[in-house]
Amino acid sequence: MKKIIIAASLLATVAAFANPYAKCAGCHGANGEKSALGKSKVIKDMSKADFVASLKGYKDGTYGGPMKGLMKGQVKNMDEATMNAIADKIAK
Ligand code: HEC
Repeated sequence: MKKIIIAASLLATVAAFANPYAKCAGCHGANGEKSALGKSKVIKDMSKADFVASLKGYKDGTYGGPMKGLMKGQVKNMDEATMNAIADKIAK
């Protein structure tokens, strides 16, 4: 219960700023706990290094499975600082 309250207040705090993860939550879950469309890894279980590497790979077309085109659209205008910021928040 405590965890849920902390998570909720954290989310509220983050939402007050521009939250670069907001557009990802619909598919990956509020904390990266879902397998997006039943296809992706559970991204909160990825290491930060793997997380950022996969986003970079989607961006330049060197990473991904059958649905990588979808993720390319998500990250094509994203800089590395934003990728790192999301990784700090979501990945472990
Ligand atoms: C419309 C649904 C959707 C949205 C929105 C979305 N993703 Fe994804 N994501 C997917 C799918 C599906 C995959 C697996 C794609 C593939 O085949 O490689 C994936 C894969 C990933 C992976 C790699 C996991 C793996 O399986 O290798 C990461 C990391 C990731 N997404 C992060 C993000 C981030 C960060 C955002 C927001 C900027 C985001 N996603 C937005 C659906 C989505």
